[in-house]
Amino acid sequence: MLIIRTSNLTKEFSLKKKKKGLRGSIQSILKPSYQTIKAVKGINFQVKQGEMLGFIGPNGSGKSTTIKMLSGILTPSEGELQVLGTNPVTQRRKLTRHIGTVYGQKSQLWYHIPPIDTFYLFSKIYEIEENAFKKQLDKLVELFQLENILNVAARKLSLGQRMKCEIAASLLHQPKLVFLDEPTIGLDIIAKQQIREALLEMNRSEGTTVMLTSHDVGDIESLCDRVIVINQGEMVFDDHIDQLKRRFIHHKVVEIGFTKPTVVNSLPPDVDIIYADQMNLKLKVKHGISQLMEHLMVQYSVADLNINEPSMEEVIRSIYQESSQEEVKNA
Ligand SMILES: Nc1ncnc2c1ncn2[C@@H]1O[C@H](COP(=O)(O)OP(=O)(O)O)[C@@H](O)[C@H]1O
Ligand SMILES: [Mg+2]
Repeated sequence: MLIIRTSNLTKEFSLKKKKKGLRGSIQSILKPSYQTIKAVKGINFQVKQGEMLGFIGPNGSGKSTTIKMLSGILTPSEGELQVLGTNPVTQRRKLTRHIGTVYGQKSQLWYHIPPIDTFYLFSKIYEIEENAFKKQLDKLVELFQLENILNVAARKLSLGQRMKCEIAASLLHQPKLVFLDEPTIGLDIIAKQQIREALLEMNRSEGTTVMLTSHDVGDIESLCDRVIVINQGEMVFDDHIDQLKRRFIHHKVVEIGFTKPTVVNSLPPDVDIIYADQMNLKLKVKHGISQLMEHLMVQYSVADLNINEPSMEEVIRSIYQESSQEEVKNA
């Protein structure tokens, strides 16, 4: 079943151009001129029930804007979208009952009261039946390990504790779909780990569909099978996470240890030296690995040889760099 469907989804913002100086200020008031920012440029994708989708890209690429359109907070300038069978623009209230949203930068918990009170408040807002609420609350308390923090005023909680409560709050009404926009930003590794495990469990036990943006490679690797990459408002990749390496990285790293001090003075073309000393050599190889290995084995006294893929960390870092975009488009 399709949970999200977008077609030519587009968002433009109109910004008042402000000119410099007093004269400029007066001019801007009397005769304002506007500048259009195309934040999302006609993107098309579909999400199936139960998917955990990573939505990644550089700052300002349009991730939050897209999520805000999908959750009914922003109205698209163009295009069509359907979320859980509804139109987020015209049926926002209906949609709200079935989705959860968490923005890492913005808290939904009431600052001065304990999370448990906010949770009860939400149960009234969402009109959750009391037994269902208690059952779900118990489950979430256990899953996110909230027992000792439920009754502490939100302002006294650590960032990680607060975020666990935020995510739990977004799941109280058993939404079919949750949008998490940078949920682990600034959290310690333990909190991140607990959040990842809890999300995986919600996905496994309730089939909750998750759409996640995160700068954290670990989040994406441990949670998402599928990844969409967006850059300057355009989708540049939509595939299984395994394909990310194939698309964005076109080299392998070869490490060689020698049995005795060695100077390597001839290497095939398309091989770059990353590091070299008398006993070790580290190479970046675009293609022809087997010829390279044969060459080294025949010419030198090799003790040890390793071929490594660049790490997912490197892959995602490269996605965040402008230069790799051309590679994607040409792939
Ligand atoms: N309310 C707004 N008004 C004007 N421009 C905006 C607004 N929200 C976002 N933008 C612009 O739209 C682009 C995409 O922003 P955003 O969706 O927040 O990116 P991301 O979440 O990927 O960092 C940026 O250029 C940003 O400055
Ligand atoms: Mg954002």
